[in-house]
Amino acid sequence: MSYYEKSKRALEALRGKQGVRILALETSCDETAAAVIEDGRSIISNVVHTQIDLHAVYGGVVPEIASRAHVMTVDAVINAALSEAGMRAEDLDACAVTYGPGLVGALLTGVTAMKAYAYAIDKPLIPVHHISGHICANYLTFPELEPPYLCLVVSGGHSHLIKVEDYGCYTLLGQTQDDAAGEALDKAARVLHLPYPGGPLLDKLAKDGDKHYMKLPQPKIDGEFDFSFSGLKTAFINAAHKLEQAGETPRDADMAASFVEAVVSQLAGKAVLAAEKTGIDKLALAGGVSANSQLRERMTAEAEKHGFKLYMPRLGLCTDNAAMIGSAAYYAMLRGACADLSLNAVPYLPLV
Ligand code: KG4
Ligand code: ZN
Repeated sequence: MSYYEKSKRALEALRGKQGVRILALETSCDETAAAVIEDGRSIISNVVHTQIDLHAVYGGVVPEIASRAHVMTVDAVINAALSEAGMRAEDLDACAVTYGPGLVGALLTGVTAMKAYAYAIDKPLIPVHHISGHICANYLTFPELEPPYLCLVVSGGHSHLIKVEDYGCYTLLGQTQDDAAGEALDKAARVLHLPYPGGPLLDKLAKDGDKHYMKLPQPKIDGEFDFSFSGLKTAFINAAHKLEQAGETPRDADMAASFVEAVVSQLAGKAVLAAEKTGIDKLALAGGVSANSQLRERMTAEAEKHGFKLYMPRLGLCTDNAAMIGSAAYYAMLRGACADLSLNAVPYLPLV
């Protein structure tokens, strides 16, 4: 019987089982991460090895360096996840890997490593969509959360408003027309001379700032639930240059707070509108930008004001990790996902 046939049978047998343990790997960008997750909800181990130091000197992620660093660390990270779980390969039920979207070389490293690993230990392999992973980070934080609910996905590459119809089943309500929210925040951080990774540092700087310092324009967009951040970004860059040319003492904290406020206002406004228009009273956040303190505070206030229940992944699960991939893999398995050995990296992989 072929590996794929065996895998399909093994996954079918797992569908009724309690205590399904999945070893997941995530290498779509600049974190090499592995985790063991039980039944999509419990973290048995969670190891994240970040490459920040390697990329910081260049001011951003260098794809070739990311791929090479994944190659160097992937074995150690997988072993660390198993050892932290106190498990051996034979204790696992299945393996899982992010196969897109992301940097092609980085993804390819993980896909190749996990195909080889799963084949060697004779376990099935589940392919996982990175953004589905971000959404599922909420299941690891909130054991009671069940679909349907709305999800605002905000990361370095995505700004999506999604209706989670069922586990792993999504309807796109809106998305960014240009830059992702994380991309815009990172750019603003650069303008303020903050080192990579900009988003978290901008968040920190903004805490001491006056968010009413700069008046930034909110875009006019046709799509009711769509976003746009590129005009905002340009307005910020121009305003920063004008202040510099006028010889004004830079008020970095105030500028950071004003820019974050403009991004957060747009995100929160559309998310609240979606909750009101759809009548769905559960709203989750997902992706790296959901770690932003101004966004978390604003959404908490909006939830109280408008009477919907808010779910936010705990801080360590907002940015890239493999625990979320293990959770998404469990639900992908229940829907019949199973990879064969031809699984490839897909850098532009739509969610819906
Ligand atoms: O989800 P993620 O780790 O990777 C992608 O899938 O893109 O998101 C990374 C993005 C980056 O743009 C980063 O600057 C942003 O999330 N980010 C933050 C914060 N932490 C991470 N942005 C604002 N405030 C934060 N605390
Ligand atoms: Zn991500």
